[in-house]
Amino acid sequence: MSTRTVPLNLMNLDGVRRSLERRYALIDTGQHDSKVIVVVNGKGGVGKSSLSSALGVALSKLGKDTLLAELDEQGNNCEDLGISNSALNDRGAAQVAAILEGKPLTPTGEARPHLHVVPGGELLEEVVAELYCQRRAAKRIDDPDDRDLWMGIYAAAIDGVRDDYDVIILDVAPGSDVLQLAALVAADYVLIPSKSDPSSRKGLRAVAKRFAAAREINDVLQLLGVVLFATNSSATKVQDKIREHLEADLNGAAPLFEQTIRHVEAAAVEARLRGKVPQELRASKELSPPLLKSMKALAGDYQSLTVEVLQEMTARLEQAQAGEDA
Ligand SMILES: Nc1ncnc2c1ncn2[C@@H]1O[C@H](COP(=O)(O)OP(=O)(O)O)[C@@H](O)[C@H]1O
Ligand SMILES: [Mg+2]
Repeated sequence: MSTRTVPLNLMNLDGVRRSLERRYALIDTGQHDSKVIVVVNGKGGVGKSSLSSALGVALSKLGKDTLLAELDEQGNNCEDLGISNSALNDRGAAQVAAILEGKPLTPTGEARPHLHVVPGGELLEEVVAELYCQRRAAKRIDDPDDRDLWMGIYAAAIDGVRDDYDVIILDVAPGSDVLQLAALVAADYVLIPSKSDPSSRKGLRAVAKRFAAAREINDVLQLLGVVLFATNSSATKVQDKIREHLEADLNGAAPLFEQTIRHVEAAAVEARLRGKVPQELRASKELSPPLLKSMKALAGDYQSLTVEVLQEMTARLEQAQAGEDA
């Protein structure tokens, strides 16, 4: 039996090959525009979706054309943006069409001015199944380039819309390593929200491993930084200890954002319930005074973090350009 034999129902990866070749050619000629941020942690409930939505809205408010895609069956971005029960929520259908049928990835619409969305949802189960099958089939392929091709599926899917946006955010499910790998290969920057507890740190170490695997075929991928999420201590000593742990988890390469996101559960729950991100509720007259106070503070955290993220992206870009000029 040929080592290349794969089940007939698997998607043909010729388009993926062409798209990766295009990506490499742009990188080689210095024309690749770094703009895709993957928000990832191997653990659920660490703030990936809250952060992705808040960052997406903040960037769009700054006039940046932003695409927010949720690679997760949870569909929490739709809740955070208040579009769960609207025509924008396709439960993952646009991703299914792009990944399984090779159609161009088409955002379902604008959730806010300048913020387009590609929702997640239960239909993504099929995408995840395909990725697992592709990976299993790839194990029998001898040529390393062909063997890794399946990981380029998401890069190929977003290729057609890349030029339409200033920033693309991929909010990725914690449970599926194939989805995370495919997202990391499509991305330029990795943003990791993490709580300080041991299981979040375990999730972080899992991401560090996948980051290394993805870099084998996507060497522009950079760790943008770790965001400490839902911290309930502002004590410098505690924060320093957490930083130390994170740096150990990531083998020293752990740029930690100065700005943390505070633990204010009532405000976070209220925002998701109302389908607005905290920044959109910071002056809401419908909130009780204590809730308004914590909403305002949370909104401030996200605003400052957004500025820091943008500064970090600019710094990385300048470093890369300086490297090219040297
Ligand atoms: N700043 C915060 N403080 C406390 N709880 C929060 C905060 N932000 C979000 N949460 C809560 O944490 C839970 C997980 O958040 P989510 O963003 O969905 O995480 P993930 O996408 O990593 O699974 C949600 O129930 C949300 O209400
Ligand atoms: Mg989520």
